Amino acid sequence: MRRTILTGDRPTGPLHLGHYAGSLLARVELQQAYDTYLLIADLQALTDHADQPEQIHLNIREVVLDYLAAGIDPAVATIVVQSGIPELAELTGYLLNLVSVARLERNPTIKEEIRQKGFGGEIPAGFLVYPVSQAADIAAFKAHLVPVGADQLPMIEQTVELVRRFNRLYGALLVEPEALVSRVSRLPGIDGRSKMSKSLGNAIHLSDSPDVVSHKVMRMYTDPRHARIDEPGEVEGNVVFTYLDAFETDAGALDTLKARYRAGGLGDVAVKHHLIEVLEGLLAPIRRRRQELARDPDFVMRVLREGTERGRALVRRTVSEVRYAMHLEYDMPYDRTTRLTG
Ligand code: TRP
Repeated sequence: MRRTILTGDRPTGPLHLGHYAGSLLARVELQQAYDTYLLIADLQALTDHADQPEQIHLNIREVVLDYLAAGIDPAVATIVVQSGIPELAELTGYLLNLVSVARLERNPTIKEEIRQKGFGGEIPAGFLVYPVSQAADIAAFKAHLVPVGADQLPMIEQTVELVRRFNRLYGALLVEPEALVSRVSRLPGIDGRSKMSKSLGNAIHLSDSPDVVSHKVMRMYTDPRHARIDEPGEVEGNVVFTYLDAFETDAGALDTLKARYRAGGLGDVAVKHHLIEVLEGLLAPIRRRRQELARDPDFVMRVLREGTERGRALVRRTVSEVRYAMHLEYDMPYDRTTRLTG
């Protein structure tokens, strides 16, 4: 039996190199071998952007363009929009009964996000429970594998707990998923401080122009003690080298560069120029495809519509099994004692 992948992104802006290294590249590589579903999580985006519905709507298109430009093939992978599948919200409601508020508050990613977003004591209830909505996304597609960045591991862990609880209470219906974390799963932002994130303004987007990319690389933090070119420099913790580790495919060239930097005599500007070249090698074809696709909005819309329809059919099947297992059919025979298992 073919196995299923489900993963997704919040449409809070165009995708960046962190998305690419953390999960998008893995999806492109695995799309042929798995039944692959990519979810554009607009409902999840609204959990902390309730006041920006138009912007979220516009960003859906940006994310699809990024997917397709990065190599997702809509003939093999299915791109779905979360709000186009209302049954996901229905399943979220059922799963919410299976988790405590205390457990939700312990989720480390949620804790970190609450700190960063400065909700100031006014945490939207929908935000606190978005891991349950994410669990519903994963469970509804009966996904086996979820390619994500390391920050999403607590979400998968919570999904597994919910699936186990559900299966224990209502019959073995849902699939326990497994996370797939990439080699580079926590790319720092260009400021080197926290992970790359649109909201922190430290991202290099897949759609950035060559000028913007070079400007951002030139602003990158390096080794603060490497003040003079002839002094030895630190490679560890140096953001420019972290990016080269992630994106330079010529391991020999990278080793040579590191050795020269450590020995002294190689300046930050030269290393940055090398990184700009490496990133251009990756981004130029993506940018080109993105521009071509942007000229065909009908095609993009068709990909979304057909994908969401196909995804919805699968989710509907799962949710009707769930309703049956949970005795949520008021008109079913009252003598029904057996549970649906499968
Ligand atoms: N939380 C994910 C992110 O912020 C997006 C997401 C929504 C997701 N639903 C998902 C990821 C289901 C994996 C599986 O990037």
